[in-house]
Amino acid sequence: MQLSLRNIGILTAGGDSPGLNVAIRGVGKTAIQHFGMRVVGFRDGFRGLMENRFIELNNDNLSGILTLGGTMLGASRDKPHRMPIAGRKADMTDIMVENFEKHRLDALVCLGGGGTQGSAYRLVRKGLRIVTLPKTIDNDVAGTDVSIGFNTALSIATEAIDRLHSTAHSHHRIIVVETMGHNTGWLALGAGLAAGADVILIPEIPYDIEKIAEAIRRRSMGGRGFSIVAISEGARPIEAAAKSGGNDNASGGRGNGHGDSLGAQSQHVARQLEELTDLESRLTILGHVQRGGTPSAFDRVLATQLGTSCARFVADGVTGSMIGVQGGEVGPVDLADVAGERKTVPLDHPWVSAARDTGVELGD
Ligand code: F6P
Repeated sequence: MQLSLRNIGILTAGGDSPGLNVAIRGVGKTAIQHFGMRVVGFRDGFRGLMENRFIELNNDNLSGILTLGGTMLGASRDKPHRMPIAGRKADMTDIMVENFEKHRLDALVCLGGGGTQGSAYRLVRKGLRIVTLPKTIDNDVAGTDVSIGFNTALSIATEAIDRLHSTAHSHHRIIVVETMGHNTGWLALGAGLAAGADVILIPEIPYDIEKIAEAIRRRSMGGRGFSIVAISEGARPIEAAAKSGGNDNASGGRGNGHGDSLGAQSQHVARQLEELTDLESRLTILGHVQRGGTPSAFDRVLATQLGTSCARFVADGVTGSMIGVQGGEVGPVDLADVAGERKTVPLDHPWVSAARDTGVELGD
């Protein structure tokens, strides 16, 4: 049954990712053109909802943004219940509820990664009608096969590793290339596989540096004097994994689970491999390059599909849900099953087996 919804809000929270503008456009155009709704875009994620900073979205400002990276609304990592205010973190959820009501919103669409899904669920429990969309280059949002932005980042990382191959080859070096991914290995594994990395290190498979060095020495002895090591920013050695007892949230969510900040291991790995193999090594950190620029065709199609479906589900009265993709089908997933969860790479995932089958060293 379609409700006669009049007003919806939309915001983009967490780190940005390619495809956000596409999703905003998909939600906005469908809501305005098919359902005659008024659409308000809040600036800078939940902070804009709290400060009531917004723009009216219309057919004009929703045009010409399909190919643009970033988000036309701006983003922030500020969370409703831990909003940085004058040097401290305050729970501002009640103010957000007030602003939701001030705009007479019938629903709020929140685009974000794992953290945003959790924040949105909090607001749902405060009584707000919310639907979310999954976006993150890390691809770690639970309840969906894929998130907006992952495919673009995968292509960027793949191209970078392709380019590193020739210089590693010329100089007979080890090149360690660090991808993003937070505490999951989707990006490093996907790009490593696509670009033919010799070693792939992901948080889900703690590594033994000796085994990696041995694999590189074997390559050297076989006449291949260069090696490419794709490492996820959250990768960790077996000693650290044993210490944290499998609790990969031990450092409070932004670390790699053993007290280090994300990316702390890459430099260490490059140095250790140089010592253990007698080959020169270099480290390349891909960083925010992976999040920038125009979305891939896949992400444009995905974000359009998710955005337009989202507006339709909202019009149908769906609330408290994330619109995700499961087995190729787009549909709502209960936010209670998404919030606080993280989609890690299963150890028996086909990409892991494919890496092993093609002789990639995973460090275990
Ligand atoms: O969660 C997305 C992500 O790009 C991670 O891969 C990375 O660890 C983090 O964001 C970087 O965050 P920031 O934008 O705060 O530098």
